[in-house]
Amino acid sequence: MTQEHLVLFTPSGRRGWFETGTPILTAARKLGVDLDSVCGGRGICSKCQITPSFGDFSKHGVTVAKGALSEWNSVEQRYKDKRGLVDGRRLGCQATVQGDIVIDVPPESQVHKQVVRKRAEVIDITVNPSIRLYYVEVEEPDMHNPSGDLERLVDALEKQWQLKGVQADFNILLQMQQVLRKGEWKVTCAVHHADGETNPQIIHLWSGLYEGTIYGVAVDVGSTTIAADLCDLTSGEVLGSASAMNPQIRFGEDLMSRVSLRHDE
Ligand code: FES
Repeated sequence: MTQEHLVLFTPSGRRGWFETGTPILTAARKLGVDLDSVCGGRGICSKCQITPSFGDFSKHGVTVAKGALSEWNSVEQRYKDKRGLVDGRRLGCQATVQGDIVIDVPPESQVHKQVVRKRAEVIDITVNPSIRLYYVEVEEPDMHNPSGDLERLVDALEKQWQLKGVQADFNILLQMQQVLRKGEWKVTCAVHHADGETNPQIIHLWSGLYEGTIYGVAVDVGSTTIAADLCDLTSGEVLGSASAMNPQIRFGEDLMSRVSLRHDE
């Protein structure tokens, strides 16, 4: 008979019961815990890092034994050798539940991480970018099942990431054939999700797993000043800021004078 174990996530406090062998990433997804993943659990992106805790947690009514997670595996070792992994950290897609366990999700593994900006006048924000990265493995073309590259890529995004109705414009189509073949049918897609109304759009492709970051610019056009912040969309960090006076100011300090400005003036 399969046994179920308590999995408790901090700092969210979410908990649930899972069968022996359930990957921590799967448990997190089922409970709606904010645990990042770009590679979809293939052990290559390291976004899903977690810190397991062992011992007595009387506050939560749980005792965690040494073997509460599966043993360190070769995928984790390969990642640690290649890129380094802080001691005590595990990959959430590789470590599986073997007993009651308490799992901490560090800030850098949270998709909607809280960012506290240093300047006193700005508030905490939750990073929720409209552009995200998704790594997929696309089926190779098959004479017996003829379909286009875009069709198979869209299909992979739906099956592997539950993204429905993904579209791509002509510029993406032009590069798609080459990018897919260069990456041996493995590709990272930058997908733009507009708020609800339009379908998600592929806006860029990289062969294989893209390990860099993506940037966005937030622009605030005010009546007096125009400001722009360059942000790292994965960490939420503001990398640079610039501002200038709004040049419309010479047509009047108040908005009404500008709105009423005649074209021939
Ligand atoms: S989800 Fe990518 S390494 Fe675990």
